[in-house]
Amino acid sequence: MSIAWRDAMEVGDESIDGDHKHLVQLINDFEVAISGRIDHKRIAAVLLSLFEYTAEHFQREEEIQLRVRYPYYESHRRAHRDVLKKLTALVQDYTQAGGVARDEMIRSMAGFLKEWLVDHIIQSDLRMKPYVAAWKRQMADTETRRRAAIAQSETIAGVTPKG
Ligand SMILES: [Fe+2]
Repeated sequence: MSIAWRDAMEVGDESIDGDHKHLVQLINDFEVAISGRIDHKRIAAVLLSLFEYTAEHFQREEEIQLRVRYPYYESHRRAHRDVLKKLTALVQDYTQAGGVARDEMIRSMAGFLKEWLVDHIIQSDLRMKPYVAAWKRQMADTETRRRAAIAQSETIAGVTPKG
């Protein structure tokens, strides 16, 4: 069964949420690729894009965690490394296996990928939500103060504010 995206899965950061939606799509694509007649060329392509996208996503996510001063950054980063190691091993095992073993392997892989992704988003990434929200509030607050300071100096300087 494919994963359906729900608003409850949103962390509140556009780039992270966009990445997660894309990852859900890739895992759903993988599931479609392994249903029916197995086309290893197609499966390998989906796996590769999933692997590459996951690595890029982790990097973006870690940068955002640093920006919002996420206190669990280090352990989250370690968890990301572990997932990448596991994915690398999966891709390697898959490319080295042959025949029936390879067909069976990809079926269990779909289960692992879905569990991992849901776990990654629901269990782990959602913890970032309050920190992302606090950072956004802080940014909005800074912007309000910046505008007020400009308006004030314009008044002092006798400049008519634009707009
Ligand atoms: Fe994530």
